Amino acid sequence: MPDERITRHPILSIPQRKRIGFYWNNTRLEAHEGEVISSALFANGIHVFGHHAKDRSAQGIFCANGQCAQCMVIANGIPVKSCMTKVEENMVVKGIEGLPVLPEAKENFRFTPVEEVDTDVLIIGGGPAGLSAALELGECGIDTLIVDDKDRLGGKLVLQTHKFFGSIEDCYAGTRGIDIAKLLEENIQGYPCITVWLNSTAMYVFSDQKVGIVTNNRQYRIVNPKVVLTAAGARERSLIFPGNTLPGVYGAGAFQTLANRDLVKPAKKLFMVGGGNVGLIAAYHALQAGIDVVGVVEALPKCSGYQVHADKIKRLGIPIYTSHTIVSANGDEHVESITVSEIDGDFKAIPGTEKTYACDTVLIAVGLSPVNEFFEEAKQAGIKVFAAGDAREIAEASSAMFSGKIAGLEIARELGAEERVIPEDWYRKEEILKGPPGPVGKPDYDSLPNQTITPVFHCAQEIPCNPCASVCPKGVISIPGDSLLGKPRIENNQCVGCNKCVFICPGLAISLVDYRQDPNNPVVSLAYEIYNYEVKKGDTVLLTDYEGTPLQEAEVIAVVSNKASQKTQIVKVRVPKGIAKKVAGFRVQREEVTLPMAKPAVEKIPDEAIVCRCERVTAGEIRRWIRRGIRDLNQIKAITRAGMGACGSKTCHDLIVQLFKDEGVPLEEVTPHTIRPLFIEEPLGVFCNIGYGDRDE
Ligand code: FES
Repeated sequence: MPDERITRHPILSIPQRKRIGFYWNNTRLEAHEGEVISSALFANGIHVFGHHAKDRSAQGIFCANGQCAQCMVIANGIPVKSCMTKVEENMVVKGIEGLPVLPEAKENFRFTPVEEVDTDVLIIGGGPAGLSAALELGECGIDTLIVDDKDRLGGKLVLQTHKFFGSIEDCYAGTRGIDIAKLLEENIQGYPCITVWLNSTAMYVFSDQKVGIVTNNRQYRIVNPKVVLTAAGARERSLIFPGNTLPGVYGAGAFQTLANRDLVKPAKKLFMVGGGNVGLIAAYHALQAGIDVVGVVEALPKCSGYQVHADKIKRLGIPIYTSHTIVSANGDEHVESITVSEIDGDFKAIPGTEKTYACDTVLIAVGLSPVNEFFEEAKQAGIKVFAAGDAREIAEASSAMFSGKIAGLEIARELGAEERVIPEDWYRKEEILKGPPGPVGKPDYDSLPNQTITPVFHCAQEIPCNPCASVCPKGVISIPGDSLLGKPRIENNQCVGCNKCVFICPGLAISLVDYRQDPNNPVVSLAYEIYNYEVKKGDTVLLTDYEGTPLQEAEVIAVVSNKASQKTQIVKVRVPKGIAKKVAGFRVQREEVTLPMAKPAVEKIPDEAIVCRCERVTAGEIRRWIRRGIRDLNQIKAITRAGMGACGSKTCHDLIVQLFKDEGVPLEEVTPHTIRPLFIEEPLGVFCNIGYGDRDE
């Protein structure tokens, strides 16, 4: 069996983990102790977990986050989500071929009493927002319980190997997400009034104001909170196109989970759909994991993510095709290629512009939807409820931390700590951090000095980010106007070449030009973090400008890293002074990776695209009923079964709504679907803590 694991990474350390054996469809395989079943299967090169009962289509993962239920397998006789269930020594895991068979009823079972726990505040979700809120509550000595369905705190932060934007004092700017998660977790441990339940899934907020929590898929407990804070984050949106449920098509967040959390190499060559921050960052993470990135398509005329993220990956050799869309993912049992095309002003594909690229994975990064059902449930139950982070509004993690801090203090005041005043500027900073980036311009090189040594800024857009100004020991850099928004500029000529600004810049968008030795051929220092494409002294690199346009080749004269650099290397080249300030990076990815195939593959029709992946309902089936006049999501569900599957419509709901919009139906005319408990899937036995014989099973 192949061993598809990451063994070398520029940022993540590779721990030695105990190996355990398990069975997959009667074949014995190796897993790492503590990893989830889906990652263990991916590490063994297995991406197809079964075949759907309706049309025998291959099934794999989509979200790797417990939201879509596409990854179901049978583990030790019980159907489980493989992305949320840890593999165990000698576990017998089977793919689901058609409908799963219920396990045989066991005798000698017993019910154990369900423990009830009182708390002042229940926080659902231990990510950036939940942890930030908990720290404010901890500071007030308020009894707080955090529940999180993963085995460590941090939420999406634990997937982020890049440095964060914002400001150092407010939201750890210049620190990597994985390190922010550790800092927040350490801080939480300092408050005895905060309790943390990991591997614990909030099931439902019941009408009697009790919240059901399942720990480790087996222990059921009831929590009686005075206040609930939902900080459960977001789920990835899906997209309708032919081949959209093929194994190998999954979310960019799922990819980050596999690669950055579980150190599995899930792809060799991938294509990204979506040029927002999530897509651009995930493309960068793929290069860090040693995976080729064939390209990125973005439907808008310009990427909606930060320009520095887009420029960074373009410099490394990843093409971004704006005003393009995916036409289809192609393959039988797994993705083998992607077809993309240009789109017109109405976002319709332009026939004849299709191109097909070979790849084994298509990542979807077309936005996020808040996980807001706990908020609605708590509201209906009459519990005082707050929301923070993505569960309230989709935004950057730095903004989620502010939103959590604010929610924490609002709750503290609600519970009597009225002396705790929420600083006015927190609201302002939260708005700035979640606001859209400014218009794209060009870097200003002319105003920078042409002598001694100077930082050069390759920022072409205003974004909330200022750590370069904060770390400069000589006050060389300032951000004009507002202290957070604005492009950096040079204040004085006192630069000593300490490289602190180069190391900390989250966009890797600062270089240092040193004219001191040879004013006509200065040395340029560039930040670098893709060690899988190793660069050594004496190598020749193709230098590029800030947005990836080639400038010229140059020899690397030094590669430097030190403790202060947070694993960022400095690569030095000597170049003629005429281009020195323009040099912003160098290519690492070979051009042939990004070339299209000779002939585009465009034989499939969009009506075949799957909308409900659980029940395999196509766009054509739903469209037909919309065209016949159905305007009620409940009727669509009853007639077609779309939304009736294991994920509880968490994945297809937005897509069905989109179909109504595409058909020109005003959404006011559409009756929303009735929310039914439960949103989380667990065997019914967990509600009475069922066990068998002498031990729990
Ligand atoms: S891939 Fe496991 S629930 Fe979505």
